[in-house]
Amino acid sequence: MAQEDVFKKLVAHCKEYGYVFPSSEIYDGLGAVYDYGQNGVELKNNIKKYWWDSMILLRENVVGLDSAIFMHPTVWKASGHVDAFNDPLIDNKDSKKRYRADALIEELAAKYEEKAEKEVEKARQRFGERFDEALFRQTNPQVTANIEKRNALVARLSAALNANDLAELRQIIIDNKIACPLCGTCNWTEVRQFNLMFATEMGSTAEGATKVYLRPETAQGIFVNFLNVQKSGRMKVPFGIAQIGKAFRNEIIARQFIFRVREFEQMEMQYFVRPGQGLDAFRQWKEARMKWHRALGFNPADYRFHDHEKLAHYANAATDIEYRFPFGFKEVEGIHSRTDFDLSRHQEFSGKKMQYFDPELNESYVPHVVETSIGVDRVFLQVIAAAYREEATDAATRVLLALPPALAPVKLAVMPLVKKDGLPEKALEIIRQLRFDHRCQYDEKDSIGKRYRRQDAIGTPFCITVDHDSLEDNTVTIRYRDTMQQERVAIDQLPAIIDEKTSLKTLLRALD
Ligand code: GAP
Repeated sequence: MAQEDVFKKLVAHCKEYGYVFPSSEIYDGLGAVYDYGQNGVELKNNIKKYWWDSMILLRENVVGLDSAIFMHPTVWKASGHVDAFNDPLIDNKDSKKRYRADALIEELAAKYEEKAEKEVEKARQRFGERFDEALFRQTNPQVTANIEKRNALVARLSAALNANDLAELRQIIIDNKIACPLCGTCNWTEVRQFNLMFATEMGSTAEGATKVYLRPETAQGIFVNFLNVQKSGRMKVPFGIAQIGKAFRNEIIARQFIFRVREFEQMEMQYFVRPGQGLDAFRQWKEARMKWHRALGFNPADYRFHDHEKLAHYANAATDIEYRFPFGFKEVEGIHSRTDFDLSRHQEFSGKKMQYFDPELNESYVPHVVETSIGVDRVFLQVIAAAYREEATDAATRVLLALPPALAPVKLAVMPLVKKDGLPEKALEIIRQLRFDHRCQYDEKDSIGKRYRRQDAIGTPFCITVDHDSLEDNTVTIRYRDTMQQERVAIDQLPAIIDEKTSLKTLLRALD
């Protein structure tokens, strides 16, 4: 099945099974804004808890924060967002559609890369075990030509973005004959900058109201509280502050479902280190964050680092952790070594010292910062995309979400084989026992096969079936989602089995 079709099915699946709904759907929705349904909110909470515990429980020197969405407007002047948090936009005069100029160019670069990868895949299948991939990549003219084209395009794009040269961005589009995906013409306007922050007013709407912004990232709340946390928590550098919260961006090109939305949640951590130690910390966090992703147990080959070609002026290293979505490798998380840029700017704009006195060195300095920043919505999509499977069975296609049990919204479904003879009562008794630790679902409607399929589609790792024997010997059948295997176990054993398999500890231990 084409990857585009897989993605469409996945979006439909999210709606059908209570994961994600378009916002204000009865009014035809609101562009790039989504609501999370009864299962979506549980998955989201489980992802957040996995991240939070990995930061706060496993690391003695990382503490949490919950700063407000509204901040003093000067924060965004100091951070550079007022002047530079822009996207370069271009309009097609025929279709009247607006695009991000850099995204159009990146898409072409990705196409060259895809062509090269397809050649490699074809050759791998043709030559089988004899295939020497490295040699093929170096010598096959189609592969080398496409990779050269990609590299030249990316280099030219980077140079234009670094120089903020909007005319050159347009020229790249013209030179490469990049056409509007909708109408197919190259009738482009000039490129203009567009600020992504949402603004509103605080106070009375009459004279005196202050223009405030909905934060476009949570990180600035951490920077401005750096000394509050350090002093009240008697924190010693190196230490980190972690925060989960909403962020807002007026994304112009909002596509691909919840991949790029206008209201989203971020999980960010700023790690404060001595000057000169930023790059070491950057390398350590890079590894630690990849480990966090891989512990989820999906195919390791679907993750990769993408080191930034274009570094922001304040960063001395930056990388993305990318995942192979159905629409290609895309960023899930960013890791940046931000030097002392943010704290120094806040020191300059507020007139307040943002320095730390280091007792071991007996000197004060503005710490340097390594940031890890991941979108909850984006990792949600990544998890769903990785977990979605269609399997041919004897009867029909089985659709399942093979979610890591610790993240699954419903941990177990308890089902009486029939709706009589005291079986429902026995099933409810089991739920009453387990509900303090696990989200359980009771299901008595339809055939047992249909009920299994329903739970597979939600991603429930365990189905417990209560039958007549259960009344006699206090045993039940446990059925495992991924293998569909069934075994008979004592009801008393259930808490231990479910705990061991669904506990977040299983994931967290892999990070130690
Ligand atoms: N403080 C740094 C920062 O915000 P970013 O690369 O702009 O860096 C970090 O964003 C992460 O936030 C991204 O890797 C992505 O997971 C998520 N993110 C950013 N914009 C988003 C959007 N419009 N919709 C969903 N997630 C988004």
